[in-house]
Amino acid sequence: MDASSLAERLSDQLRQLCEVVGADSTAPLDLLADLLGPAGSRPLSEPPAWPSNIADDHTPVEFSIAYNENEPPALRILAEAQGSPPGVLANLSAAHRFMDRQGHRFNLSSSRYEAVRDIFASGQPRGDFALWHSLVFRSGRRPELKVYFNPEVQGTERSPALVAEAVRRLGLSRPYRAVLERGVRPGKLGRQDRLTFFSLDLHDGPQARVKLYLSHHDAEARDVARTAGAVDGVDEAVVERFCATAGGGPGPFRGRPMVSSHTFAGGVERPIGYSVYVPIRSYVADDAEARSRVLSLLARHGFDGAVLDRAIAAVSRRPLHEGVGLIAHVSLRLGRPRPGVTVYLSAEAYRTDPPRHRWGPPADAQRETSTPHIASRQP
Ligand code: TRP
Repeated sequence: MDASSLAERLSDQLRQLCEVVGADSTAPLDLLADLLGPAGSRPLSEPPAWPSNIADDHTPVEFSIAYNENEPPALRILAEAQGSPPGVLANLSAAHRFMDRQGHRFNLSSSRYEAVRDIFASGQPRGDFALWHSLVFRSGRRPELKVYFNPEVQGTERSPALVAEAVRRLGLSRPYRAVLERGVRPGKLGRQDRLTFFSLDLHDGPQARVKLYLSHHDAEARDVARTAGAVDGVDEAVVERFCATAGGGPGPFRGRPMVSSHTFAGGVERPIGYSVYVPIRSYVADDAEARSRVLSLLARHGFDGAVLDRAIAAVSRRPLHEGVGLIAHVSLRLGRPRPGVTVYLSAEAYRTDPPRHRWGPPADAQRETSTPHIASRQP
């Protein structure tokens, strides 16, 4: 039995990740504890209190390392606050309380958040979340926070109307139209191209951004690259190549969907930035394969792979070939505000998924390295 609690496990990982990126861990650890609330003290031997979709094993937290062109890598956390007892509405109230408590401390601005929150509200929310947070820690700076709304909170069919109203209130209708024209395959909005997140920076500085995320089901690398064309100056071939390397071929990608995001800024006709997120765990046999693909992507884009290995060691001690999903996504950011590559690491607090079979001719070496059983770090 694992006697440690969820909060203990995650804090351990977070403390070590802070060391990797050279960030002071005081504020990150505080924020993590506050986000987890009472759910943090549950022992890991008990099942997750809430089936959070942040991570495949329902850990309500996912870590990421964001490599940037002109500054050291940043550490990020994506997290879902949980009510007790948890539920979509209870979690939403917990998220509000979290923002109230931390807002003063970190000088957050919620004016844009307040302007749209009623749109993404529902007395009977559909789907599995209403509001997520991300926290960004850059060395020597105070933490930055973002919120993620669920555009499908009133059902998939309503998502285009909800987003249209939100961008209207924020004065971003024109760049949104550019995304619809270019970023969505004809006739697929709300079907194979789904509006999955609408995110806001919780500050009012000139850098404050709004991002819209689209999940492209059954798309090819070429389809995804075309959506990047909504942003001036983005090279679609770079996006296509990134998807093909991370996804192990040109597609179509029939596992978890490729995801795009377009970044909006006020007073600009077109989106100013584009990111693609490849759910690499769906397209590899195990994490050793995911790591080697990510290392070649980092090298291609001019980043140092040593940091990745240190970050992996900070969250997990299991051999990489014994599971899949530790490296959950890899993303490429193009345009403003900061181009770079981000690698998402699962905490695997509750479960490690077993490696997938490698299809193809059985090679002796392969038979030895692929383990057919679950290799969980927990008994
Ligand atoms: N686990 C969810 C998914 O894979 C949500 C999620 C977590 C996600 N991190 C992400 C989605 C990064 C896109 C990119 O869809």
